[in-house]
Amino acid sequence: MSTITAAITAVGGYVPDFVLTNELLETMVDTNDEWITSRTGIKERRILKGENLGTSYLAIKAAEDLIAKKNINPEEIDLVIVSTTTPDMPVAATAVYVATQIGAVNAFAYDLQAACSGFLYGMSTASAFIQSGKYKKVLLIGADKMSSIIDYTDRATCIIFGDGAGAVLFEPNYEGLGVQDEYLRSDGIGREFLKIEAGGSILPPSAETVAKRQHYVFQDGKTVYKYAVSGMADVSEKILERNNLTHHDVNWLIAHQANKRIIDATASRIGLEEEKVLINIHKYGNTTSGTLPLLLFDFEKKFKKGDNLIFAAFGGGFTWGSIYLKWAY
Ligand code: UT7
Repeated sequence: MSTITAAITAVGGYVPDFVLTNELLETMVDTNDEWITSRTGIKERRILKGENLGTSYLAIKAAEDLIAKKNINPEEIDLVIVSTTTPDMPVAATAVYVATQIGAVNAFAYDLQAACSGFLYGMSTASAFIQSGKYKKVLLIGADKMSSIIDYTDRATCIIFGDGAGAVLFEPNYEGLGVQDEYLRSDGIGREFLKIEAGGSILPPSAETVAKRQHYVFQDGKTVYKYAVSGMADVSEKILERNNLTHHDVNWLIAHQANKRIIDATASRIGLEEEKVLINIHKYGNTTSGTLPLLLFDFEKKFKKGDNLIFAAFGGGFTWGSIYLKWAY
Protein backbone atom coordinates (compact mmCIF):
# COMPACT_ATOMS: atom_id res chain seq x y z
CA MET A 1 0.00 0.00 0.00
CA SER A 2 1.38 3.41 -0.92
CA THR A 3 1.74 6.09 1.73
CA ILE A 4 -0.96 8.73 1.99
CA THR A 5 0.14 12.34 1.76
CA ALA A 6 -2.20 15.31 2.20
CA ALA A 7 -2.52 17.49 -0.89
CA ILE A 8 -4.28 20.76 -1.53
CA THR A 9 -6.70 20.02 -4.37
CA ALA A 10 -8.75 23.22 -4.54
CA VAL A 11 -8.60 26.85 -3.49
CA GLY A 12 -11.23 29.56 -2.92
CA GLY A 13 -11.19 33.11 -1.63
CA TYR A 14 -13.19 36.18 -0.82
CA VAL A 15 -12.51 39.80 0.11
CA PRO A 16 -15.26 42.35 0.78
CA ASP A 17 -15.87 45.21 -1.66
CA PHE A 18 -15.13 48.23 0.53
CA VAL A 19 -11.57 49.50 -0.05
CA LEU A 20 -9.89 51.37 2.81
CA THR A 21 -7.03 53.21 1.14
CA ASN A 22 -4.03 54.90 2.75
CA GLU A 23 -5.50 58.20 1.58
CA LEU A 24 -8.72 57.50 3.47
CA LEU A 25 -6.75 56.56 6.59
CA GLU A 26 -4.99 59.93 6.35
CA THR A 27 -8.38 61.51 7.07
CA MET A 28 -8.94 59.29 10.13
CA VAL A 29 -5.58 59.30 11.99
CA ASP A 30 -2.28 61.18 11.86
CA THR A 31 -0.55 59.15 9.18
CA ASN A 32 0.42 59.36 5.53
CA ASP A 33 0.69 57.16 2.47
CA GLU A 34 4.48 57.50 2.30
CA TRP A 35 4.95 56.27 5.90
CA ILE A 36 2.57 53.33 5.51
CA THR A 37 3.96 52.26 2.14
CA SER A 38 7.63 52.48 3.09
CA ARG A 39 7.20 50.84 6.53
CA THR A 40 4.74 48.09 5.58
CA GLY A 41 4.19 47.83 1.81
CA ILE A 42 0.42 48.29 2.30
CA LYS A 43 -1.59 50.56 -0.04
CA GLU A 44 -5.14 49.46 0.77
CA ARG A 45 -7.19 46.88 2.64
CA ARG A 46 -10.73 45.51 2.41
CA ILE A 47 -13.34 46.08 5.11
CA LEU A 48 -16.56 44.14 5.64
CA LYS A 49 -19.44 46.58 6.02
CA GLY A 50 -23.02 45.74 6.85
CA GLU A 51 -25.13 44.96 9.89
CA ASN A 52 -24.73 41.59 11.58
CA LEU A 53 -22.04 40.31 9.23
CA GLY A 54 -19.24 38.48 10.99
CA THR A 55 -16.29 36.31 10.06
CA SER A 56 -18.64 33.50 9.02
CA TYR A 57 -19.84 35.68 6.14
CA LEU A 58 -16.29 35.85 4.74
CA ALA A 59 -15.64 32.15 5.41
CA ILE A 60 -18.84 31.02 3.72
CA LYS A 61 -18.09 33.13 0.62
CA ALA A 62 -14.57 31.67 0.34
CA ALA A 63 -15.85 28.11 0.84
CA GLU A 64 -18.65 28.59 -1.69
CA ASP A 65 -16.12 29.88 -4.23
CA LEU A 66 -14.03 26.72 -3.74
CA ILE A 67 -17.05 24.39 -3.90
CA ALA A 68 -18.32 25.99 -7.12
CA LYS A 69 -14.91 25.98 -8.83
CA LYS A 70 -14.10 22.40 -7.88
CA ASN A 71 -17.70 21.29 -8.36
CA ILE A 72 -17.67 19.19 -5.20
CA ASN A 73 -20.65 17.87 -3.31
CA PRO A 74 -20.47 19.56 0.14
CA GLU A 75 -22.10 16.49 1.66
CA GLU A 76 -18.82 14.63 1.01
CA ILE A 77 -16.79 16.98 3.23
CA ASP A 78 -15.69 15.18 6.42
CA LEU A 79 -14.35 18.07 8.45
CA VAL A 80 -14.48 21.89 8.35
CA ILE A 81 -11.83 23.82 10.27
CA VAL A 82 -12.08 27.59 10.48
CA SER A 83 -8.88 29.24 11.55
CA THR A 84 -9.80 32.62 13.01
CA THR A 85 -8.94 35.17 15.67
CA THR A 86 -12.28 36.93 15.22
CA PRO A 87 -14.96 34.25 15.65
CA ASP A 88 -18.58 35.35 15.18
CA MET A 89 -19.09 34.89 18.93
CA PRO A 90 -16.89 33.76 21.85
CA VAL A 91 -19.05 30.66 22.28
CA ALA A 92 -20.52 28.61 19.40
CA ALA A 93 -17.71 27.79 17.01
CA THR A 94 -17.89 29.75 13.76
CA ALA A 95 -16.88 26.64 11.79
CA VAL A 96 -20.03 24.79 12.85
CA TYR A 97 -22.28 27.51 11.47
CA VAL A 98 -20.17 27.75 8.31
CA ALA A 99 -20.34 23.98 7.72
CA THR A 100 -24.13 23.99 8.00
CA GLN A 101 -24.52 27.03 5.75
CA ILE A 102 -22.40 25.55 2.95
CA GLY A 103 -24.25 22.24 3.09
CA ALA A 104 -21.44 20.22 4.69
CA VAL A 105 -24.10 18.42 6.69
CA ASN A 106 -22.05 15.26 7.24
CA ALA A 107 -18.98 17.08 8.52
CA PHE A 108 -17.85 17.83 12.04
CA ALA A 109 -16.41 21.29 12.52
CA TYR A 110 -14.44 23.44 14.91
CA ASP A 111 -12.36 26.63 15.14
CA LEU A 112 -8.61 26.90 15.53
CA GLN A 113 -6.95 29.99 16.98
CA ALA A 114 -3.26 30.74 16.65
CA ALA A 115 -3.34 34.41 15.61
CA CYS A 116 -1.45 35.08 12.37
CA SER A 117 -0.11 31.50 12.27
CA GLY A 118 -3.62 30.05 12.51
CA PHE A 119 -3.84 28.97 8.90
CA LEU A 120 -0.35 27.44 8.97
CA TYR A 121 -1.19 25.45 12.12
CA GLY A 122 -4.49 24.56 10.45
CA MET A 123 -2.58 23.09 7.51
CA SER A 124 -0.74 20.87 9.97
CA THR A 125 -4.02 19.76 11.60
CA ALA A 126 -5.92 19.25 8.34
CA SER A 127 -3.10 17.27 6.75
CA ALA A 128 -2.76 15.03 9.83
CA PHE A 129 -6.46 14.08 9.56
CA ILE A 130 -5.93 13.14 5.90
CA GLN A 131 -2.69 11.24 6.57
CA SER A 132 -4.46 9.20 9.25
CA GLY A 133 -6.46 7.58 6.45
CA LYS A 134 -9.72 8.19 8.31
CA TYR A 135 -10.87 11.28 6.41
CA LYS A 136 -10.96 12.05 2.68
CA LYS A 137 -12.02 15.69 2.42
CA VAL A 138 -10.97 18.33 4.93
CA LEU A 139 -11.94 21.93 4.25
CA LEU A 140 -9.61 24.44 5.91
CA ILE A 141 -10.74 28.07 5.92
CA GLY A 142 -8.68 31.01 7.15
CA ALA A 143 -11.00 33.95 7.83
CA ASP A 144 -10.80 37.13 9.85
CA LYS A 145 -12.86 40.26 10.20
CA MET A 146 -9.98 42.19 11.75
CA SER A 147 -11.92 45.45 11.48
CA SER A 148 -14.11 44.18 14.35
CA ILE A 149 -11.18 44.31 16.81
CA ILE A 150 -9.21 47.28 15.50
CA ASP A 151 -9.22 50.72 17.11
CA TYR A 152 -9.53 53.18 14.22
CA THR A 153 -8.10 55.93 16.41
CA ASP A 154 -4.83 53.99 16.94
CA ARG A 155 -2.49 54.66 14.01
CA ALA A 156 -0.06 51.97 15.17
CA THR A 157 -2.54 49.19 14.34
CA CYS A 158 -5.34 50.51 12.14
CA ILE A 159 -3.09 50.96 9.12
CA ILE A 160 -2.05 47.32 9.14
CA PHE A 161 -5.09 45.05 9.23
CA GLY A 162 -7.85 44.15 6.79
CA ASP A 163 -10.69 41.64 6.36
CA GLY A 164 -10.67 38.58 4.12
CA ALA A 165 -10.86 34.81 3.82
CA GLY A 166 -9.39 31.94 1.87
CA ALA A 167 -10.22 28.25 1.76
CA VAL A 168 -8.37 25.11 0.70
CA LEU A 169 -9.45 21.49 0.36
CA PHE A 170 -7.10 18.77 1.56
CA GLU A 171 -7.45 15.30 0.04
CA PRO A 172 -5.32 12.13 0.09
CA ASN A 173 -2.60 11.87 -2.54
CA TYR A 174 -0.80 8.67 -3.54
CA GLU A 175 1.94 10.24 -5.71
CA GLY A 176 3.85 11.79 -2.82
CA LEU A 177 2.49 15.29 -3.48
CA GLY A 178 1.14 17.66 -0.81
CA VAL A 179 2.60 18.32 2.63
CA GLN A 180 6.20 17.10 2.90
CA ASP A 181 7.37 18.55 6.19
CA GLU A 182 6.49 21.06 8.88
CA TYR A 183 8.36 22.95 11.58
CA LEU A 184 6.03 24.71 14.01
CA ARG A 185 7.05 26.79 17.01
CA SER A 186 5.51 28.83 19.84
CA ASP A 187 6.69 30.97 22.76
CA GLY A 188 4.40 32.40 25.44
CA ILE A 189 6.67 35.40 25.90
CA GLY A 190 4.75 36.94 23.01
CA ARG A 191 1.46 37.60 24.70
CA GLU A 192 2.68 40.82 26.29
CA PHE A 193 3.49 42.32 22.91
CA LEU A 194 0.46 41.47 20.78
CA LYS A 195 -2.88 40.98 22.48
CA ILE A 196 -6.44 41.95 23.23
CA GLU A 197 -6.28 42.52 26.93
CA ALA A 198 -9.94 42.22 27.92
CA GLY A 199 -12.92 40.06 27.07
CA GLY A 200 -11.33 36.78 28.13
CA SER A 201 -11.27 34.94 31.45
CA ILE A 202 -8.59 37.13 33.04
CA LEU A 203 -10.34 40.41 32.39
CA PRO A 204 -14.01 39.84 31.48
CA PRO A 205 -15.86 42.62 29.70
CA SER A 206 -17.03 45.51 31.87
CA ALA A 207 -17.89 49.17 31.45
CA GLU A 208 -14.34 49.91 32.58
CA THR A 209 -12.64 47.66 29.98
CA VAL A 210 -14.74 49.27 27.27
CA ALA A 211 -13.90 52.78 28.49
CA LYS A 212 -10.20 51.88 28.52
CA ARG A 213 -10.43 50.54 24.94
CA GLN A 214 -9.08 47.17 26.09
CA HIS A 215 -11.15 45.15 23.61
CA TYR A 216 -9.01 46.29 20.71
CA VAL A 217 -5.74 44.82 19.42
CA PHE A 218 -2.68 46.20 21.13
CA GLN A 219 0.68 45.68 19.44
CA ASP A 220 4.18 46.67 20.44
CA GLY A 221 5.13 46.79 16.78
CA LYS A 222 8.87 47.21 17.19
CA THR A 223 9.25 44.18 19.47
CA VAL A 224 6.96 41.99 17.37
CA TYR A 225 8.87 43.06 14.28
CA LYS A 226 12.16 41.97 15.80
CA TYR A 227 10.84 38.51 16.72
CA ALA A 228 9.00 38.13 13.42
CA VAL A 229 12.03 38.89 11.27
CA SER A 230 14.24 36.35 12.97
CA GLY A 231 11.46 33.80 13.62
CA MET A 232 10.14 33.55 10.08
CA ALA A 233 13.60 33.51 8.53
CA ASP A 234 14.86 30.85 10.99
CA VAL A 235 12.05 28.37 10.33
CA SER A 236 12.22 28.83 6.58
CA GLU A 237 15.95 28.22 6.59
CA LYS A 238 15.49 25.18 8.84
CA ILE A 239 12.83 23.55 6.66
CA LEU A 240 15.00 23.97 3.57
CA GLU A 241 18.04 22.54 5.32
CA ARG A 242 16.38 19.46 6.68
CA ASN A 243 14.77 18.66 3.32
CA ASN A 244 18.05 19.21 1.47
CA LEU A 245 16.58 22.06 -0.55
CA THR A 246 18.34 25.17 -1.78
CA HIS A 247 16.71 28.32 -3.13
CA HIS A 248 17.01 26.78 -6.61
CA ASP A 249 14.56 24.04 -5.59
CA VAL A 250 11.97 26.43 -4.17
CA ASN A 251 9.36 27.61 -6.66
CA TRP A 252 7.28 29.88 -4.42
CA LEU A 253 7.47 31.47 -0.98
CA ILE A 254 3.99 31.80 0.55
CA ALA A 255 4.70 34.06 3.52
CA HIS A 256 2.32 35.66 6.00
CA GLN A 257 1.59 39.19 4.80
CA ALA A 258 2.21 41.29 7.92
CA ASN A 259 4.92 43.57 6.64
CA LYS A 260 6.72 43.57 3.28
CA ARG A 261 10.02 44.12 5.09
CA ILE A 262 9.57 40.92 7.14
CA ILE A 263 8.84 38.94 3.98
CA ASP A 264 11.88 40.42 2.22
CA ALA A 265 14.10 39.52 5.19
CA THR A 266 12.89 35.90 5.04
CA ALA A 267 13.45 35.68 1.28
CA SER A 268 16.87 37.21 1.64
CA ARG A 269 17.92 34.75 4.40
CA ILE A 270 17.16 31.77 2.12
CA GLY A 271 18.62 33.54 -0.92
CA LEU A 272 15.33 33.45 -2.81
CA GLU A 273 14.86 35.36 -6.06
CA GLU A 274 12.29 38.19 -5.90
CA GLU A 275 10.02 36.69 -8.57
CA LYS A 276 9.43 33.62 -6.40
CA VAL A 277 8.14 35.68 -3.47
CA LEU A 278 4.37 36.06 -3.68
CA ILE A 279 3.02 39.37 -2.44
CA ASN A 280 -0.49 40.78 -2.12
CA ILE A 281 -0.06 42.82 1.08
CA HIS A 282 -0.41 46.04 -0.95
CA LYS A 283 -4.04 45.08 -1.76
CA TYR A 284 -5.30 43.51 1.47
CA GLY A 285 -2.96 44.46 4.35
CA ASN A 286 -2.70 41.85 7.10
CA THR A 287 -5.80 39.66 7.07
CA THR A 288 -4.39 37.41 9.86
CA SER A 289 -5.73 33.89 9.09
CA GLY A 290 -6.57 34.96 5.56
CA THR A 291 -3.12 35.86 4.25
CA LEU A 292 -1.76 32.44 3.22
CA PRO A 293 -4.91 31.11 1.51
CA LEU A 294 -5.50 34.48 -0.19
CA LEU A 295 -2.02 34.19 -1.72
CA LEU A 296 -2.96 30.74 -3.04
CA PHE A 297 -6.25 32.21 -4.31
CA ASP A 298 -4.57 35.13 -6.11
CA PHE A 299 -1.67 33.15 -7.60
CA GLU A 300 -3.23 29.68 -8.14
CA LYS A 301 -2.76 29.89 -11.91
CA LYS A 302 1.02 30.23 -11.55
CA PHE A 303 1.46 26.90 -9.74
CA LYS A 304 2.37 23.72 -11.60
CA LYS A 305 2.09 20.13 -10.42
CA GLY A 306 5.20 19.23 -8.43
CA ASP A 307 6.14 22.84 -7.60
CA ASN A 308 7.83 23.27 -4.23
CA LEU A 309 5.98 25.78 -2.04
CA ILE A 310 7.44 27.03 1.25
CA PHE A 311 4.84 28.46 3.63
CA ALA A 312 5.97 30.64 6.53
CA ALA A 313 4.11 32.62 9.16
CA PHE A 314 4.64 34.53 12.39
CA GLY A 315 1.95 35.76 14.74
CA GLY A 316 0.72 36.65 18.19
CA GLY A 317 1.37 34.30 21.05
CA PHE A 318 4.04 34.06 19.72
CA THR A 319 3.30 31.38 17.13
CA TRP A 320 5.34 30.73 14.02
CA GLY A 321 6.53 28.06 11.64
CA SER A 322 7.07 26.80 8.14
CA ILE A 323 5.53 24.09 5.97
CA TYR A 324 6.98 22.52 2.83
CA LEU A 325 4.31 21.41 0.33
CA LYS A 326 4.45 20.01 -3.20
CA TRP A 327 1.66 21.42 -5.36
CA ALA A 328 -0.62 18.65 -6.63
CA TYR A 329 -2.34 20.00 -9.77
O1 UT7 B 1 1.00 39.67 11.89
C1 UT7 B 1 1.31 39.45 13.22
C2 UT7 B 1 2.67 39.89 13.57
N1 UT7 B 1 2.80 41.31 13.43
C3 UT7 B 1 3.86 41.81 12.76
O2 UT7 B 1 4.61 41.09 12.19
C4 UT7 B 1 4.03 43.31 12.77
C5 UT7 B 1 5.44 43.65 13.16
N2 UT7 B 1 5.68 45.08 13.27
C6 UT7 B 1 5.70 45.91 12.21
O3 UT7 B 1 5.41 45.52 11.10
C7 UT7 B 1 6.16 47.34 12.42
O4 UT7 B 1 6.72 47.47 13.70
C8 UT7 B 1 5.05 48.40 12.25
C9 UT7 B 1 4.64 48.50 10.80
C10 UT7 B 1 3.84 48.04 13.10
C11 UT7 B 1 5.57 49.77 12.68
O5 UT7 B 1 6.75 50.10 11.97
P1 UT7 B 1 8.09 50.57 12.71
O6 UT7 B 1 9.06 50.86 11.66
O7 UT7 B 1 8.43 49.50 13.71
O8 UT7 B 1 7.61 51.90 13.40
P2 UT7 B 1 7.65 52.30 14.95
O9 UT7 B 1 6.52 51.66 15.66
O10 UT7 B 1 9.02 52.11 15.47
O11 UT7 B 1 7.39 53.84 14.84
C12 UT7 B 1 8.34 54.73 14.24
C13 UT7 B 1 7.77 56.13 14.27
C14 UT7 B 1 7.29 56.56 15.66
O12 UT7 B 1 7.54 57.93 15.79
P3 UT7 B 1 8.81 58.43 16.62
O13 UT7 B 1 8.65 57.86 18.00
O14 UT7 B 1 10.01 57.88 15.90
O15 UT7 B 1 8.67 59.93 16.56
C15 UT7 B 1 5.81 56.34 15.59
O16 UT7 B 1 5.10 57.16 16.48
O17 UT7 B 1 6.63 56.22 13.40
C16 UT7 B 1 5.50 56.69 14.17
N3 UT7 B 1 4.30 56.02 13.66
C17 UT7 B 1 3.61 56.47 12.60
N4 UT7 B 1 3.78 57.52 11.81
C18 UT7 B 1 2.89 57.70 10.81
C19 UT7 B 1 3.73 54.89 14.11
N5 UT7 B 1 2.66 54.58 13.36
C20 UT7 B 1 2.56 55.55 12.42
C21 UT7 B 1 1.66 55.78 11.38
N6 UT7 B 1 1.87 56.85 10.58
N7 UT7 B 1 0.61 54.96 11.10
